[in-house]
Amino acid sequence: MIMRLIHGKIVIIQRSPTGLYTLTAVCPYSKGKYRASILDPFAGAGTTLTVAMLNGFHTVGFEINPYAALACRVKLNAPLIDLKELEAFCENYRLYSAKSHSPVRNWSPDGFKSRIPFFSQHIMWQVHAFLEFMNGIQDPDIADIFRVAFGSVMVSFSNYSYEPSLSTRPAAGKPIIKNADVHGIILRKLHEMVSDIRWVKDEIGNLDNTYQRQIYNQDFMASKSCLPANSVDLMVTSPPYMNNYHYVRNTRPQLFWLSLVSCSSDLKILEEANVGKFWQTVRGKAPIPMGFEHPALQKMIITLRNTRREKGVYGGAGWANYVTTYFNDCHRFLTTAKRCLKRRGVGVIVIGNSIIQGHEIKTESILADIAKHVGFEVVGMQCIRTKRVGASITQSAVRYGQNNRATLYEYAAIIRKK
Ligand SMILES: C[S@@+](CC[C@H](N)C(=O)[O-])C[C@H]1O[C@@H](n2cnc3c(N)ncnc32)[C@H](O)[C@@H]1O
Repeated sequence: MIMRLIHGKIVIIQRSPTGLYTLTAVCPYSKGKYRASILDPFAGAGTTLTVAMLNGFHTVGFEINPYAALACRVKLNAPLIDLKELEAFCENYRLYSAKSHSPVRNWSPDGFKSRIPFFSQHIMWQVHAFLEFMNGIQDPDIADIFRVAFGSVMVSFSNYSYEPSLSTRPAAGKPIIKNADVHGIILRKLHEMVSDIRWVKDEIGNLDNTYQRQIYNQDFMASKSCLPANSVDLMVTSPPYMNNYHYVRNTRPQLFWLSLVSCSSDLKILEEANVGKFWQTVRGKAPIPMGFEHPALQKMIITLRNTRREKGVYGGAGWANYVTTYFNDCHRFLTTAKRCLKRRGVGVIVIGNSIIQGHEIKTESILADIAKHVGFEVVGMQCIRTKRVGASITQSAVRYGQNNRATLYEYAAIIRKK
């Protein structure tokens, strides 16, 4: 996604496999010294905020997952990094890794459970040697870069893989990894990051450094304490899709091995605050009521609840709770977004449809209805991609409740605060 200022309007250009789409977000942007502020309430690893920063906007984001928030912070900090210092740390690590390190006892972080050993023994020794080096780095920004480098490659030399959900390699038909050049892999990642940071610094070089770049590692719904009302010009975001992709479980290795959580109750707190929750979290609860009026959705949820009743929580009953919770959370998200946006401020929300127990749910159009309900006008709905790939729900039983030939797609819903 690229953001540009054209004729006093912020224009978002989205490239898709089927062509180039231009989404004109009509955002009140005054000329002169004024600099618009861009919000991503579900910042993930910070792609949108980084692009906004590179285009000279004030940026503010929220991300509940501590690992994703860490990756985002590293990107937003890139302009301030002392490259010579970073390169010196990388060289020290290279020299350190070339020495032999006495094998440590096999241990995993407290609370981190895995069905099979997460790392094989020779890999575990190297991982501990790396962690010892990393924990000795005093400069917090450089230490963060090392943490993200490790977090982004650690699964590649583990006995797990992303399929796209985290599963054991044997379950995915892949062999156990007995040994690997862990230090070499981390060093390659670090060098890639050094060249990315150099590129960002070159790009930013022409801009003055007075703009704000902020990522909050917290629930966007609790943003009242840090983000003033009516302060955001443009919101660009992609909330969790209704595909039960379990962000918390899938980042368990990074969260535990980087000491970002310390026990499973920390994960529970994250799961409860995640938008849409997860099917696993809500399936066994009593029927969850809808928190807003939407007769068509209500009817659809009743139909869903009556689908494959014999399967209990694994059939329609469990999934109806998931769908209801997802849209209740969308309602809370849009209500919070309305508070943050200025009058006439614009939101661009990228979202995909879902197929649950054989029922297609046009998430984008229900989201647009909810937006109207909370006081936005819908100024555009643009299909940006069809045949979306990578959604775990497409490969799971939830798709096969009935024969449904619907395909998956993504929309950009453009809304404006009245
Ligand atoms: C679809 S991803 C965003 C991807 C992002 N656009 C990127 O390029 O990396 C949705 C993100 O929302 C985060 N999230 C879920 N619930 C949240 C909440 N209540 N507050 C803030 N972030 C949340 C998830 O952890 C996840 O990283």
